[in-house]
Parts: sequence; C-alpha cells; structure tokens
Amino acid sequence: MRTASYSTPGKIHLIGEHSVVYGKPAILSAINLRVRVSLLETETKQHFSGELLRLKRIVEGVVKKEFKVSIFPHYELNVTSQIPIGSGLGSSAAVCASYIACLLDLLGEGFNTEVVNKLTFEVEKTFHGNPSGGDNTTVVYGGTIWYRNEVGIVKLFSALPFLFHIKTSKFLLLDSGHPKESTLQMVENVKSLHERKRKSIEKILDSQEQLAKSLVVALRDGESEDVIQLIRQSERNLEKLGVVGLRARSIIRMVEKLGGAAKILGGGGYINGSGMIMAYSLNLVGLEETLKDKNIPILKVSLGESGIRKE
Ligand code: MEV
Repeated sequence: MRTASYSTPGKIHLIGEHSVVYGKPAILSAINLRVRVSLLETETKQHFSGELLRLKRIVEGVVKKEFKVSIFPHYELNVTSQIPIGSGLGSSAAVCASYIACLLDLLGEGFNTEVVNKLTFEVEKTFHGNPSGGDNTTVVYGGTIWYRNEVGIVKLFSALPFLFHIKTSKFLLLDSGHPKESTLQMVENVKSLHERKRKSIEKILDSQEQLAKSLVVALRDGESEDVIQLIRQSERNLEKLGVVGLRARSIIRMVEKLGGAAKILGGGGYINGSGMIMAYSLNLVGLEETLKDKNIPILKVSLGESGIRKE
C-alpha cells in the first residue's frame, strides 16, 4: 500500500494584506511553523466527516478536473499542525498544499511545485472567494516573496534576492484572539467599504504600496527606525480598512508605547480577535518580557523558511 507525506510552512504578511487583493504589492514570508499531511492508501473505504469531508471533496474535485482522474484510491488522511488555525498564518493554504502533493503522489503524478501551487489556489478560491494567491504562493515556494496579483489571471512574484539585515529580521507573534469573521468575510467587508468610499480607500491602497516599497529596502538595510515607522503607518491603514478589532488595537498601542511597532498579518478580524499580530522592536527581549507579564500569548518565529517538502 502506498503512503505519502508532505509538510508545508505557514506565512506572515510583512505588509500588503488586503491591498494585495486590489493589485497592490505584498511582502510575505514563510515561517518555521509547519503543517504535515500524510495519506496512507487503504483497501477499504475510510469514513470522513465534517470539515475533513468537505476538504476531501474539494481537493479531489480540483485534482480530478486537472488530471482527468475518474477514481481515487481509498486512503486514510492524517493532519498534524503547528500553525494555529484562523490566525492569519496561512494554515488553510498549508493544509491544502500538503494534501494536494500527497494525493498527486498516490496517483503517481510526481511532484511539481507549480502544479501544486496552481491547484492549491483553486482550492483556496472555494474557501476564500477571491483570494490574491499570495498565501498559497508563499507557503508552496517558501522564502520571502514580493507578490502582486496584476489582473487575476496574471500573478507576479519574486523571491527576494537578499536576506533581511540581522537587525530587522526578528519578529514576535502576539495572539490577539481568534477572529469571529472568516478571511472571506473580512475581504468582503473591505470590498463593501471600497464600493462606498472608493476615493479614500484608493488612497489607503496607494499608501500601502508606497510603504511596501520603502519597507523592503528598510528591512534589507537594517534601518530599524524606518521599519518601526513603516509598520506603524501600515497598521494605521489597516485600521482604516476596518480589519483590526479593539483587542488587537490595544495590544498594538501597548507595543508602540514601548517604542516598537506591530500590525496584524493576515485577514484580521473586527468583532473579536484579529488573529496573530507581528511585533518589532529594537529591544525584542524587553518587549517579550513585558508582554509575558501582561499574559499576552507570544510565539517566536523565524522568516524565510523552506516551502513545501516531502517528509
Ligand atoms: C489573507 O491571508 C490575506 C488577504 O490579503 C486575502 C488574500 O490575499 O487573498 C486578506
């Protein structure tokens, strides 16, 4: 009986979440938290229910269409994940990518990064409506990328051909709580704001683009003060887009008072939590201690990790 196992990293948006849906650039990086999916071929049909059944139907449907497969083997599916779900860390893209790669292995189709990325995007569309494609591209290819969804059918991305400066390469992730809304809902909320207040929202989107261009240089050159200012401005823009809730904002203001900067890193959330927040400071150790004293859950992550891989 055949088996297949792949692991895929999560991601963070250093900048550009939401504005990337409108053709603006985003900088995303793969992190050292991974999802592992394993398939074990079985002789008998396995029972799937709930979310797993839905995922199975969607993934198999996408693979069926691409490869004109009529029958899938029976298999057991195991998912183990270090990536908190619904926190903006790309766990859904990571699960889908690993699952698709496993299924292609079982079908004897071999591994092809481009195909896995393309099919993961197709599955993401069923979950998230009109995703930019940034999440799946980052978790599949890994590293840190500059990503732009030009016109939906043309998506451009480039692996950054340099590492971030040691002074501007470490971030903390702070948990602001689980969002009540899905990413799809948050994207829809921004869309409706864009329809109602087109001029002012366009201004914010343009500003995010300028900030992304400045941030990539500041991160490369280790310009800590610039990084702090740019992250703060980008967070203000996200707040104006209505994707940051009260709890996240209060944590972010606290980080700012301590001299640092913080922002959400994915779809966000308004009603309750906004998922994970990335925080930067010249004194990351001091910031970590203060936040721990305040009982704010912290994760330390490294960026630019490797993309999907066979386990
Ligand atoms: C979600 O991780 C990022 C968003 O920009 C949506 C997308 O890019 O599809 C909010």
